[in-house]
Amino acid sequence: MTAPKKLFIKTYGCQMNVYDSERMAEALGGQGYVETDSADDADMILLNTCHIREKAAEKVYSELGRFKGLKADKPDLKIGVAGCVAQAEGEEIIRRQPLVDLVVGPQSYHRLPDMEAKTRKGEKALDTDFPEEDKFEKLKSRPKAARGPTAFLTVQEGCDKFCAFCVVPYTRGAEVSRPADRILTEARDLVDRGVREITLLGQNVNAYHGAGPDGDMTLAQLIWALDGIDGLERIRFTTSHPNDMGDDLIAAHGECAKLMPYLHLPVQSGSDHILKRMNRSHTADSYLRLIERIRAARPDILLSGDFIVGFPEETEADFQATMDLVEEVGYGYAYSFKYSTRPGTPAAERAQVDEDVKSERLQRLQGLITRQQRQVQDGMVGKMVNVLFEKPGRFDGQMVGKSEYLHAVHVNDAGAQVGDLCPVRIVSSGSNSLAGEMVRRA
Ligand code: SAH
Ligand code: SF4
Ligand code: F3S
Repeated sequence: MTAPKKLFIKTYGCQMNVYDSERMAEALGGQGYVETDSADDADMILLNTCHIREKAAEKVYSELGRFKGLKADKPDLKIGVAGCVAQAEGEEIIRRQPLVDLVVGPQSYHRLPDMEAKTRKGEKALDTDFPEEDKFEKLKSRPKAARGPTAFLTVQEGCDKFCAFCVVPYTRGAEVSRPADRILTEARDLVDRGVREITLLGQNVNAYHGAGPDGDMTLAQLIWALDGIDGLERIRFTTSHPNDMGDDLIAAHGECAKLMPYLHLPVQSGSDHILKRMNRSHTADSYLRLIERIRAARPDILLSGDFIVGFPEETEADFQATMDLVEEVGYGYAYSFKYSTRPGTPAAERAQVDEDVKSERLQRLQGLITRQQRQVQDGMVGKMVNVLFEKPGRFDGQMVGKSEYLHAVHVNDAGAQVGDLCPVRIVSSGSNSLAGEMVRRA
């Protein structure tokens, strides 16, 4: 028997890339590859890339440069670029870095085995098409390895919103939802392999409208269908757009016990002028009213968001409106970024805000967000939560997991196993995590 070839995948960007990397590893498993966690002993290196901000895209080229030595030592080593940079830059990648053998966009991963075979013949392989076929159907997972208690599951991909700053509609293509039966089959399979929590993924996950037994289903209907799977304990979903937050989804947050009280609902800015220029088609006020309705359905829900500072034309007053909105919402988590010009997007052509101004605003916003996060986290002390243990901690007997609110919680002398879901009382709050103790029944 020939020794298996080794595959090293490095994943950048969002959770969908994490999911896709797993699928690519499975697809190449059929070609005799096993995964390795070191680039040094790999026969194939795949970078699964992100194009969302300039820095993310540039990282890819510096990383590729570092493989020069490896390839010189091992001429048979194949180097591939997948993900959103592959989609956005295509052939240009091979022109800029000739050591690259393969470039594959997110909609062509099911063609990876054929592409790999092509590289073995010494040819370059490039595929950035948007084919009609269902890549996930063709990427059907192979051998059923046991896995950890949490998993991602892509249910929707692509975006038709065209926010003026964003590359996703170009790199992931038009919005497509997977049929519900395939999602349910995949979910049952994950549960059979030990998964207890599934996070449904989509760039616009709450716009989900996949085919169901009686016509298209909403995300809420899909969640209720998943709720019926024995052994699946927790359901999450990300990322949502405020305009697609349907009444049934809001209601599910109050009624579906498996749906976790956490919602990532990016707003990007608190200024209506900027929101309009971003092509977001919601206002700060409509967002705030939406949050009120969500909190009415599920009062303890923890909200998280994304913010862009220094979008073209953003004035100090616009920025202040963002600070005010953050004050008003009170986020449990929030991610904030300096606006980064992306080639081909409408905002790239507009009058840009000074880099210094962007940095200074980002600092102020992050200061506020950090205080809020800390406040929400500190507010958990004394409360009872349920923790799904994901891995052993740093100390003997310590276990680490997530509460329903997605806070990391560590418990000493837990006497629990990975995959156990246990009631825990929070005893203290650190900078990035909570400490808890097991609630033992008398
Ligand atoms: N709806 C998407 C958003 C993807 S991008 C999803 O499902 O995840 C994640 C975040 O990156 C966005 O919410 C936005 O805040 C930020 N972002 C996108 N384009 C950006 C740009 N050009 N500059 C800075 N931040 C950006
Ligand atoms: Fe990008 Fe806007 Fe679509 Fe989100 S909704 S992926 S930010 S275009
Ligand atoms: Fe990045 Fe593509 Fe995800 S640009 S954020 S990897 S959809």
